[in-house]
Amino acid sequence: MKALILSGGKGTRLRPLTYTGAKQLVPVANKPILWYGIEEIVDAGITDIGIIISPETGEEVKSLTGNGDRFGASITYILQEEPAGLAHAVKIAQEFLQEAPFIMYLGDNIIEGGLGEFLNNFNQKHLDALIFLRRVSNPSAFGVADVDPDGRVLQLVEKPQDPPSNLALVGVYYFSQTIHEAIASIQPSTRGELEITDAIQYLINKGKRVEARELTGWWLDTGKKDDLLEANRIILDTKLTPATQGEIDDSSQIIGRVEIGSGTRVINSSIRGPAIIGKNCYLENCFIGPYTSIADGVTLIEADLEHSVVLQQATIDGIHQRIVDSVIGRKAHLCVAPRRPKALRFMIGDDSKIELA
Ligand code: G1P
Repeated sequence: MKALILSGGKGTRLRPLTYTGAKQLVPVANKPILWYGIEEIVDAGITDIGIIISPETGEEVKSLTGNGDRFGASITYILQEEPAGLAHAVKIAQEFLQEAPFIMYLGDNIIEGGLGEFLNNFNQKHLDALIFLRRVSNPSAFGVADVDPDGRVLQLVEKPQDPPSNLALVGVYYFSQTIHEAIASIQPSTRGELEITDAIQYLINKGKRVEARELTGWWLDTGKKDDLLEANRIILDTKLTPATQGEIDDSSQIIGRVEIGSGTRVINSSIRGPAIIGKNCYLENCFIGPYTSIADGVTLIEADLEHSVVLQQATIDGIHQRIVDSVIGRKAHLCVAPRRPKALRFMIGDDSKIELA
């Protein structure tokens, strides 16, 4: 059994962050989203992993993630020259996949545990495809399945205007080698992509064994800001182990589950968990509220924030209003002019969103 993780794409829904980096590398609780998927796959006992990368962000994914040693896995990178669809990604990975059955995992998804349990199911029943579904309120934004009471998939449609159910396709799929023949037989969709949903539909039409399981745990598709904040909240809630390194002075208060990295200094500040502060940060006269992740090298002076994600080396200085539900990009600089501001002064990148709430 092998695994194929898709880490290409343009990440348009996470702009402007994705102008300068891969969406799969945006951190959730200070760890790249992509790494959660790798860890899940390795936990299920699969160590031969291919990662699809794009020309724009591939080098960054490669240099941060490495050859797999840190995960106890072996990683092969496969370049997809253009975002021509999920099934296209499988097609170009054929040399890596050979005849092996495999898990396909979309690199911006995080699901709650348990790939191994489904893997046994897939193997024992000799399925051609096993897909995962989750009930959602907005099925038109996803691939949608129609399933019979025994879990057999009858129909799959990609982003339908008139969805046959509210069961969305989660970005994790198990395939036998028959998927390659299906992919070779389909045509690009109206959006010009080779759709994996069409390939699975081809298997269904040919009478192959395609089943679905409904996920009951959480599933996070981190492609948008609010989803990213929600992923951050859930991961901090469920996975954070408190640990304090760095230097915390006597006038600071650490309350609840908080992780603080080495080389970080906390001066006259309150941090209320669950929250994570990376390495080499500087915090002075701050309040950091629950569900906040501060990446490495961040400087916060007289800042008050909660339920937010701050990326590497950003600076927030002297913003006295509480910052909530925010994502602050790498090396972003938010500050207030020395005298009480009468005007606002900005240098804001394309696709930024500023809300003076
Ligand atoms: C893709 C799939 C879709 C699936 C979704 C899950 O959509 O095409 O079927 O429901 O992932 O995240 P995308 O997020 O690429 O629009």
